[in-house]
Order: sequence, then structure tokens, then C-alpha cells
Amino acid sequence: MHFARPLIAFFLALVTFSSAATYSNPLKTKDGSDPHIAWSGGYYYLMTTTWSNLQITRAKTLNGLKTGETKVVWTDSTSSRCCNVWAPELHYFDGAWYIYYTAGNSANLDGQRPHVLKGGATPWDSFSYLAQLTNTWGIDGSILRFSSWGNYFVYSCFSGSLQSLCIAPLISPGQIGTSKVLSTPTQSWEKVGNPVMEGPAAMYHGGKTFLAYSASYCWTSSYSLGLLTWNGSGDPASSSSWSKTGPFLTSANGNYGPGHNGFFQSPDGSQIWNVYHATSNSGGACDGTRYTMGQIVNWNSDGSPNFGSPAKLGTSLTGPAGE
Ligand SMILES: *[C@@H]1O[C@H](CO)[C@@H](O)[C@H](O)[C@H]1NC(C)=O
Repeated sequence: MHFARPLIAFFLALVTFSSAATYSNPLKTKDGSDPHIAWSGGYYYLMTTTWSNLQITRAKTLNGLKTGETKVVWTDSTSSRCCNVWAPELHYFDGAWYIYYTAGNSANLDGQRPHVLKGGATPWDSFSYLAQLTNTWGIDGSILRFSSWGNYFVYSCFSGSLQSLCIAPLISPGQIGTSKVLSTPTQSWEKVGNPVMEGPAAMYHGGKTFLAYSASYCWTSSYSLGLLTWNGSGDPASSSSWSKTGPFLTSANGNYGPGHNGFFQSPDGSQIWNVYHATSNSGGACDGTRYTMGQIVNWNSDGSPNFGSPAKLGTSLTGPAGE
């Protein structure tokens, strides 16, 4: 019996060691652009821009996404939405999952429009085409939810020559109301290369509503996150109800142009995580060489999010709580 206690301690140490969730970046090396993750029913579901189709990768751990099960869930031969398939995101409404994505024609990027597919009770069910959401140029559509105001569709649009953020009430998952310009790129850090606001991503924490987005042109190392914070009472479709701060999550540790992010919850619901892309090219990148990074969102004492810095690739990091 004299060896029992050290043995128990040894096995406890083993169990502790093997259950500690760690991961490292990148989560996806090729075609890791414009990532979005939804956590549901024991799986992380990752979608990224793969240009010619829509694919979902799923795994039970964040690190497992590197070798996760992957399937093509959509290809389309309709000429107006066959090609330049970008920025897919999974969102859930009333018992069904939907994929919001951008697509256009093969000739150029002038035909880029937001589209939506309808799926089933889990993200792994099959999808069918539901609707095109605008008749004007629009990319990177996402969903913004309010308990008091209902749901909105937010996307990147043109306001004159400025690539800006637009907002419209979401009447149903496949139909939006009148669009308004929510915010235009006015800050110096939003205008490097080209004035750009794109890739909006909503986040809710401590009673506050935030809308992160990506600023500046992707072929620069200045591509980074900006943040709109709702004032808590004004009409969400009115730009005066939001204040702008940034830049956040700027180039660091060999990762350039981090941005086009999505937010997801840890499996235990206690943490908000950020998934985004970056490139090892010091001049930035807009192509499929961008890789997918995951990182926890921390919080400042004033309740604002702290996005931190992209860690050097390969660094072992603590995974989401509840894995
Ligand atoms: C929020 O913004 C609206 C304008 O959209 C303004 O009327 C309202 O007073 C603001 N509320 C607060 C708490 O700042």
C-alpha cells in the first residue's frame, strides 16, 4: 500500500495533462481566408473562402479542425452566382441553419452579391438555395441581433467611392428591408491602400453589443480590425447610435494583415473566441494564401473587448473552456 499514493498522483497527473485543451495556429493553412466558426452540438464548424464552392470542416476540438472532416456543401452553375464565392457564415434561426455568403460571375467582381442557403437542424445537414439579398454590390454579409430591435443584416457596400458598412432589417432569413449606410471609412487606419470597411462580425458581452469589422485594403499589412460599439438605446440602423474605435489586432509576430474575423463561443459558453485570417506576406494578401487563426477575446476593465495580438505560428495556446 505504501506505493498507492504516488501511483494515484501519477495517474491524476496523466489525466490532467491529457485533458488540458491546447491548440496552435494556423487552424487551416490553405484557403484559410475570411473564416467563420459556429460551435453547436459538440462540434466546431469552420467555413472559409474557397472561391469555387462552399465547404464545412468540423471537429470536436479547435486543434482538431486542422484534420477535421470536410465536405463540400454547395456548388452553383448559375452564372450570376457561380464564382468568386466568398466569406460563408453559418447562422441559426428558428430550428434551421443558414449559410450567408457572397458570390458573383466569373468575369469580374462587379457582380458580387450576398446570398443565403437554407439547411436543417444541424450545420451538417444539406443546404438548398434560398435567396439573393441585394440587387447592388454587397459582400461579407453577417447577422446582428438585438432583443429589443430584432435582427439586422450587415454587409460591406459602396457609399460613393468608399467601401463601407451597410445595414438593413432582416425581415426573414431570406429577405431584408431597406439598406442604409452604417459607417464609412474616415480614419487614417481605415484608408491604407484603399478606404475599406468589410467583414462585419457581431459580438455581445456584458450587456453591450459590438460590431467588429476589417479596415484598409487587404494587400497591405495595415489590414486590421475596427470596432463599432452600440450606445445601447439608439436605432441600430442609425450611424449616430454607434461609436468607432481602432485599429485592433494589428500585424505582429510574423502575421500580417490580420482580419476578416468571426466570433464563436467556447463549448461551455463562458468565453468568446475570435477566428480570423492573416498572412506571412509582409505586404498583406487578398488571396488563398491567407491562413486561419483562433484566439480568445479578453476584456478590458471598461467592458470593451481586448483582441490581443496574433501569436507566432506554432505557439502552444490554451484552448476554449469546456473542450
Ligand atoms: C444613442 O444614439 C441616439 C442616436 O441614434 C441618441 O438619440 C441617443 O440619445 C443615444 N443614447 C445614448 C445613451 O447615448
